[in-house]
Amino acid sequence: MIESLKQLRDQALKDLSAVADLEKLDELVLKYFGRKQGLLNSILRSLKNLDERQRKILGQQANEVKIEIWHLIDQRRQSIKKAGKKDFVDLTIDGKNPRLGHLHPITKIRREIEKIFREMGFAVMLGPEIETDYYNFEALNMPAEHPARDMWDTFYIKSEERRAEDGEKLVLRTHISPMQVRVMEKLTPPFSVISSGRVFRHEATDARHEHTWDYTEGFVVDQHVSLSNLKTTLLDFFKQLFGSKTEIKLRSSYFPFTEPSIEIIMGCIFCQKTGCSICGQTGWLEMGGAGMIHPTVFEHAGYPREKYSGFAFGLGIGRVAMLKYDIPDVRLFYQNDHRFLSQF
Ligand code: PHE
Repeated sequence: MIESLKQLRDQALKDLSAVADLEKLDELVLKYFGRKQGLLNSILRSLKNLDERQRKILGQQANEVKIEIWHLIDQRRQSIKKAGKKDFVDLTIDGKNPRLGHLHPITKIRREIEKIFREMGFAVMLGPEIETDYYNFEALNMPAEHPARDMWDTFYIKSEERRAEDGEKLVLRTHISPMQVRVMEKLTPPFSVISSGRVFRHEATDARHEHTWDYTEGFVVDQHVSLSNLKTTLLDFFKQLFGSKTEIKLRSSYFPFTEPSIEIIMGCIFCQKTGCSICGQTGWLEMGGAGMIHPTVFEHAGYPREKYSGFAFGLGIGRVAMLKYDIPDVRLFYQNDHRFLSQF
């Protein structure tokens, strides 16, 4: 009897060390403690055949073995649970959806604009945001003190040390028309280029104006470029952007670097030109400035007089985005409010 108790204990220790999961452990519990077939119980049952003294001694020993095995099983259970926690993967738990970033609405529209012009054969080029006084004004037919400079409330860079290599005064570009001259200096016509990016104006902000905003300049230089080329190019562009029913008109305007100068107006896409609050009841929306490149600009670029002609235009990307997405205030695009931006 004592011998079989000892064997039982050794067997239990061996069994326990081989058990690696809770299911097997439960099987062990049954094997040793099961009411009918449990090994310990059958030993305990056989105690009743012994005399009282033996029964007492063996009963006590059997109880000790029972407690010991029970205790070991419990320990094993804890350690299996603990180990399990580390590499336990519950494949049924819902995944966490990572928040994916996306393009800013202004970037989306800029790319759309670039795509349309690319397909028309325009090349996309980039210019500097910090521009020299020369390219921003002078080369565009606005010498120092020229009153037309007042059309652009300019951020001048003050520091005397911060000047262009040739000592030129620096400004934050007020438009991207300077790229006309920069490109002309590098390329020989014919060429068609668009250049987009940020421009800066020292202006009070309101629903239609920001001090820093996105702009697209486009220009074509060749021989015999005409105003009607400008109109068809722009009309084609606006139709692709806003639909085939879109209409545009060219209205006379003034810029020192174009002659004639025009303002592009587009039939209001919200009221079909019947007049609404967006177009100020006029039926037409102002979309940007344009014109035929002024001979003085060609001269500044070093081109022979009268040899080339060209057109140029400038568009506010925010303006286009406001119309495309029906946004009432251009400043919303620049406030980085996620509640606004996550809608696009
Ligand atoms: N640069 C002008 C502006 O900022 C727009 C323009 C571009 C006008 C090209 C004529 C030609 O308002």
